[in-house]
Amino acid sequence: MSNPSPATIAPAKGKLGVLIPGMGAVATTFMAGVELVRKGKSNPVGSLTQLATVRLGKRTDGRSPMIKDFVPLAKLTDLVFGGWDIYEDNAYQAATNAAVLGKEHLGQVKKFLGGIKPMTAVFDQNYVKRINGPNVKTGANKMAMAEQLMADIAGFKKANKCDRLVMIWCGSTETFTKPSAVHATLAAFEKGLAKNSADIAPSQVYAYAALKSGVPFANGAPNLTHDTPALLDMARDNGLPVCGKDFKTGQTFMKTLLAPGLKSRMLGINGWFSTNILGNRDGEVLDDPGSFKTKEETKLSVLDQILQPELYPGLYKDLYHAVRINYYPPRGDEKEGWDNIDIFGWLGYPMQIKIDFLCRDSILAAPIVLDLVLFMDLAQRAGMRGIQEWLSFYFKAPMTAPGLYPEHDIFIQLMKLKNRLRYLMGEDLITHLGLEYYD
Ligand SMILES: NC(=O)c1ccc[n+]([C@@H]2O[C@H](COP(=O)([O-])OP(=O)(O)OC[C@H]3O[C@@H](n4cnc5c(N)ncnc54)[C@H](O)[C@@H]3O)[C@@H](O)[C@H]2O)c1
Repeated sequence: MSNPSPATIAPAKGKLGVLIPGMGAVATTFMAGVELVRKGKSNPVGSLTQLATVRLGKRTDGRSPMIKDFVPLAKLTDLVFGGWDIYEDNAYQAATNAAVLGKEHLGQVKKFLGGIKPMTAVFDQNYVKRINGPNVKTGANKMAMAEQLMADIAGFKKANKCDRLVMIWCGSTETFTKPSAVHATLAAFEKGLAKNSADIAPSQVYAYAALKSGVPFANGAPNLTHDTPALLDMARDNGLPVCGKDFKTGQTFMKTLLAPGLKSRMLGINGWFSTNILGNRDGEVLDDPGSFKTKEETKLSVLDQILQPELYPGLYKDLYHAVRINYYPPRGDEKEGWDNIDIFGWLGYPMQIKIDFLCRDSILAAPIVLDLVLFMDLAQRAGMRGIQEWLSFYFKAPMTAPGLYPEHDIFIQLMKLKNRLRYLMGEDLITHLGLEYYD
């Protein structure tokens, strides 16, 4: 991929519209948080675009600007929000139901959130079994629904006087599917839309409508969605960045912190048992075996790809890895995740690690949504198209070019992200070799 010079990155002028299919816990926590930060009432904790720095040049140079001052990102004051949901609740009602944020926060943004009303959704209960709602589109076939979404996108852009848009899926996890013939080419996909193919999921109709409308698309859930040849070709051909899948929060975040550390010291692992209780709507959806399988696949693949048992059979070949999620309503969004890790060291002596993470899922996910929106917009203005592997940092199941295994180690992912920013701005990449300090 050629390196766009800083001079060729279009400036972030005008408004950036953020379009979100699925206005539930994550989406409304994100919107409320951005508004509270804009009002100066809170800090954007957890967001690299707002808080992190990037070191440039040598360690002795003393150049570590904030990322937001280094690359031309859209300003928070330029963000406007819209979305779709199968329920009619506005963002204030949805946030109140999700009960992630307390009254002291929601009260301050009631008017703002109340003004964000969901557009009618493209929905098919075959893909999300546990919920059903009235705020849905009807149409002759899936192509007709995609056209309605494109009209929604164009209408939102005009009404809000947006210069650019980004779409990010924060909808429920759809049931597990594999790509079929209808996903092989764009022509087959468009034919499938017109013929109402049962193999096309609602999230794919949104992704198609976004890409057809020239809008970058990110997927925060583990569903297949645009991870298919048809939609990836479309993204590349239309010059649009895409990324996914499944925001890396909670237990998997912990896994990607710990597993590379154990591996770096060549410590063995016999077993990793992970179990969760959560009681929000996401938990209810994941109580369905089809949706859980989609999630399980992304959660299980992480350890295998970090530990590389094929390279280190003596340490990781026999690793028993299990992931469970139990729907437990009393906890709401305040999930609890337990990990029991059976490791072994010198001469095979066993040890155990226990983690009990009393986590707030949407609190961890909201800054990820913000960073992805701003970085995807940057990528589009910089002419970067197709899969954005440098954004793997944010995902449990990072999308990669076909045949390439994903990088899951969060510290390598972070280095990749920051090097991408240096590369974009014509700065030297940092290899961490460090010889120059000792010559
Ligand atoms: N919270 C996290 O930390 C986290 C981490 C990784 C992934 N995710 C994923 O992000 C997604 C959102 O999580 P959440 O906690 O906000 O869930 P949620 O249930 O609160 O919100 C999802 C919303 O999507 C809506 N929806 C479902 N199908 C739709 C469709 N076809 N069109 C429009 N709206 C639709 C639902 O009505 C619901 O309001 C889930 O798929 C979840 O698995 C969340």
